[in-house]
Amino acid sequence: MTDDKPTITKAPDRRRFLKSGLAAAGGVAAFGLAGRAGAVEAGGNSENQAPNVADWSRYLGDGVDAAPYGMPSPYESGVVRRNVEWLTATPESSVSFTPLHQLHGIITPNGLCFERHHGGAAEIDPADHQLMIHGLVDKPLMFTPEDIFRFPPESRFYFLECAANSGMEWHGAQLNSCQFTFGMVHCVHYTGVPLKTLLAACGVRPKAKWLLAEGGDASGMTRSIPMHKALDDCMVVYAMNGEKLRPEQGYPLRLVVPGWEGNMWIKWLRRIEVGDKPWYHREETSKYTDLMDDGTARSFTWVMDAKSAITSHCPENPIRRKGQQVISGVAWSGRGKISRVDVTADGGRNWHRARLDEPVMSKCLTRFYLDWEWSGDEALLQSRAIDETGYVQPTIKALRKVRGAESIYHNNSMRTWRVHNDGAIENVEIS
Ligand code: MTE
Ligand code: CO
Repeated sequence: MTDDKPTITKAPDRRRFLKSGLAAAGGVAAFGLAGRAGAVEAGGNSENQAPNVADWSRYLGDGVDAAPYGMPSPYESGVVRRNVEWLTATPESSVSFTPLHQLHGIITPNGLCFERHHGGAAEIDPADHQLMIHGLVDKPLMFTPEDIFRFPPESRFYFLECAANSGMEWHGAQLNSCQFTFGMVHCVHYTGVPLKTLLAACGVRPKAKWLLAEGGDASGMTRSIPMHKALDDCMVVYAMNGEKLRPEQGYPLRLVVPGWEGNMWIKWLRRIEVGDKPWYHREETSKYTDLMDDGTARSFTWVMDAKSAITSHCPENPIRRKGQQVISGVAWSGRGKISRVDVTADGGRNWHRARLDEPVMSKCLTRFYLDWEWSGDEALLQSRAIDETGYVQPTIKALRKVRGAESIYHNNSMRTWRVHNDGAIENVEIS
């Protein structure tokens, strides 16, 4: 056993390869290209490639105790949330973006869900946390997380989109990036308790028509929510994708408001006040209202209308060779299920019906695919989502006609990726 030891420890060779591979992957990732393919093209060790026996086949790998909480392969180190530094004054009141262009299927891994905080991510000891429900109820109650775990749980898949997603694009194409243009959305399998169960435990009075949800973070975020939504499908959740909420997603308790703007999904949920009218706090007056051309503002624009994004190909995923391609992306609607996605490669002259990947769920991301032959000529890629109510995702021109261009929020228009004849892709606007 001891005699064998030098042979079975990881060969320095292997370590060296890993290091140089990583450096290459990191370098390529900085330009937003896929880490793995990039690493090979940037000079992977061909001695490891078939028909040779690869280095990693010659030695034992790590034991099962090497990573009690596993991490992605180091070759995927470029798959991360990113922020745009100049966008906000400080990272505590800011946003990072989901790397949609590097994800598959419909679920966002927990560590890649975009973050939007108004006062930084609170770090809460669940032993010290309670949710208070009071106001127009027969019996005000305080729930510890442990109390919440005792109610019958439900698990549901939902997308969350910040109302400001694609907000930079109101005046035209901005950043040459799928991540920054569409990445304020994530899709998670939540576990928790229907809000109506907790409200029933407190006995909501007949006069009650609204509630105010409040977060326990430094921003003390609050939003008014109409009672009909609270009693429909809102949840108080404690888990995401099978494990407890991440601190940055509201640990230990978060409100889920399916299909409605992300701002209402109060994180670090500490208080629900039941009342008979809305509170008109900051987040529903000066913020999260939509300025129109005539100077008035739309308010209580809660539902996230149908929208879609082509995630491959896109500026970060250029086309590498002519011929057979798969155009892939995600579509979603706050009104229910996606019923159809159309894709054009010529800026809207001809539309092709994309294949929707199962499962297609209500208020959840839906993955779509379209097989496409690229001739090497310039192309203009767009996708158009249609939901089960018949709502069709608008062009930017049609949207500006009714909404103007001064709003930050609720830009669900189709965006355009221009494919150049070298395969590079650019975010453009066509009219
Ligand atoms: N809740 C609290 N308590 N504090 C916050 O800053 N940000 C809101 C919402 N809930 C916020 C909050 C906004 S604007 C959005 S878009 C979502 O949380 C973002 O959720 P995420 O960080 O899980 O992506
Ligand atoms: Co938001």
